[in-house]
Amino acid sequence: MKTLHFAAVGLGNRSELLDHLSDPAAHSAVLHGADPSEEARRRFSDRFPDVEVVSDYRELLAVPDLDGVIILSPDYLHREHACSFLHAGVPVYLEKPIATSISDADAILDTARRTGTKLFLGHNMRYFPCIIAMKDIIAAGTIGEVQAIWCRHFIAYGGDAYFRDWHSERRYTASLLLQKGAHDIDVIHWLAGGYTRRTVAMGTLSVYNRAKRRSHKTPGDARFYLDHWPPLEQSGFSPVIDVEDHSMVLLELDNGVFASYTQCHYTPDTHRNYTVIGTRGRIENFGDHGRCRIALYTSRNDTYAEADRIIELDGHEDSHGGADPAIVRAFLDYVRNGTPPNPSPIAAREAVAAGYSATESLRSGANARTVPEPSEKNRAFFS
Ligand SMILES: NC(=O)c1ccc[n+]([C@@H]2O[C@H](COP(=O)([O-])OP(=O)(O)OC[C@H]3O[C@@H](n4cnc5c(N)ncnc54)[C@H](O)[C@@H]3O)[C@@H](O)[C@H]2O)c1
Repeated sequence: MKTLHFAAVGLGNRSELLDHLSDPAAHSAVLHGADPSEEARRRFSDRFPDVEVVSDYRELLAVPDLDGVIILSPDYLHREHACSFLHAGVPVYLEKPIATSISDADAILDTARRTGTKLFLGHNMRYFPCIIAMKDIIAAGTIGEVQAIWCRHFIAYGGDAYFRDWHSERRYTASLLLQKGAHDIDVIHWLAGGYTRRTVAMGTLSVYNRAKRRSHKTPGDARFYLDHWPPLEQSGFSPVIDVEDHSMVLLELDNGVFASYTQCHYTPDTHRNYTVIGTRGRIENFGDHGRCRIALYTSRNDTYAEADRIIELDGHEDSHGGADPAIVRAFLDYVRNGTPPNPSPIAAREAVAAGYSATESLRSGANARTVPEPSEKNRAFFS
């Protein structure tokens, strides 16, 4: 089997994916990398000494015979980076969220369609065993027709990951509701089998605006520490914080399903809890990757009751519960054999469209927003 050759753009935290993309057993190798940060290049080269690294990603556009590029740069650069490689005819793995605005997401889809270049989005939650198990229970009809999905998202590490570096600024992420929420909105869409067409949201920044900041001269450190608790007793936060740390969203989907999504960045625990309610029962997960449980309720009780069935999942604890190696395998299968990508680029665009419109609602007095649809050309092409 031919060994596929890849380049990587953005060599920060998410370059952990290269542990799976550079794999002799899968006949794939990452040979080139680009990052303007000297510190990021140095750290990366300690881990991947055989990868040739440069500061300017545009040098990689001239590398002959690349089989693909993996784009792991900050969200606001996704449009520029993805479109450059799509124009060059190089298949793209692009981290989520696809972009920080609906127009940027649409521009990326337009470019992939016009150039006919492969585009794969890094929504690794679709590869979480727990989410797949919930999708299978729904598909089997066990809870009847899905009517409602409620997601509560508790993020204990929010203060570490999102309020110390570029994530804390609207100009780089739009909002954490879009940045982080793109994962969950996509999962809601996938479990429901529809896309959001109307949304209304409320939210605020009420904790990290009061936290102790670092100066502009000190680089941000977004590593996680369990003893960073409670949030208001920590320091080292970004000089500029203008994204919300608590958001609550309602979503109306095109197939009649209604959903809610709530995200909080200062909880003591970390967990995504989805409740899916159908016409014959409901499911709810406890733990979203690694060891987790799905509770299935199918009989009526008029007071609190244990679930009718508990499905226990003994997943890996590492690499997003095994989802990272699985999504990289899916990308390789797409590049090598053309197996359709999961999610489709349209689904990634729709997650951003809902998150972006919800952010607009949140920042304009909770007025309901209609979520713009993708173009007919893109819908037809990517379906
Ligand atoms: N799917 C997931 O579970 C998951 C998890 C974490 C991050 N992400 C996504 O991965 C992406 C990267 O996130 P991260 O946590 O690694 O961020 P990070 O800040 O750790 O790394 C980003 C890197 O990109 C570099 N960069 C900046 N400008 C660049 C440019 N012009 N060209 C090339 N590189 C440039 C930065 O110097 C930095 O090293 C984001 O889009 C994020 O949303 C996805």
